[in-house]
Amino acid sequence: MLYLWLKFIHVVSSTILFGTGIGTASNLFLAHRTRDVYIIATTARYVVFADWIFTTTSGIIQPITGLGLVYLGGYSLSSFWIWGSIIGYLVAACCWFPVVYLQLKLRDMAIAAHQSNTALPPLYFRYFRYWFCLGWPAFISLIMVFYLMTNKPM
Ligand code: HEM
Repeated sequence: MLYLWLKFIHVVSSTILFGTGIGTASNLFLAHRTRDVYIIATTARYVVFADWIFTTTSGIIQPITGLGLVYLGGYSLSSFWIWGSIIGYLVAACCWFPVVYLQLKLRDMAIAAHQSNTALPPLYFRYFRYWFCLGWPAFISLIMVFYLMTNKPM
């Protein structure tokens, strides 16, 4: 019973983690493509907020519930699908921390450009490229984790 409730939380949390990640990333990407400083600044504000509320919370819940399931289900940490998922999760986390920092900087630069009525600085575009490039390994590693969790290859 406890196992199933934990699994329920784990699965709901995984949808929030993945869904918020894709949702906020596509919003910021599309806002960036408008080249409209006001739209970029406003969207970046909401993206930073949503990432703190949803991605951070679910990112913390995910390994805690996952390890709880390993313990309660009597799974071995040496099973490929378990350690593979842990590595996939860590890869995504290592990409996500710099992404949070970059988003804060992108937001601040867009707000500053909007307030001073100037163009976005070259640093904004450099940070945006880093942000874009880091999103892909995070996305791919989470897709791999979903595969490992649901198919459990030995
Ligand atoms: C961080 C380390 C993680 C560990 C140790 C872990 C562990 C587990 C365990 C033991 C189960 C139960 C399997 C079953 O009852 O059949 C499970 C299920 C699941 N996990 Fe994870 N998990 C982790 C991270 C993740 C992540 C990052 C995601 C996706 C973002 C995820 C998505 C899922 C899904 C969708 C299921 C349901 C699979 C099914 O019922 O067939 N997990 N996980």
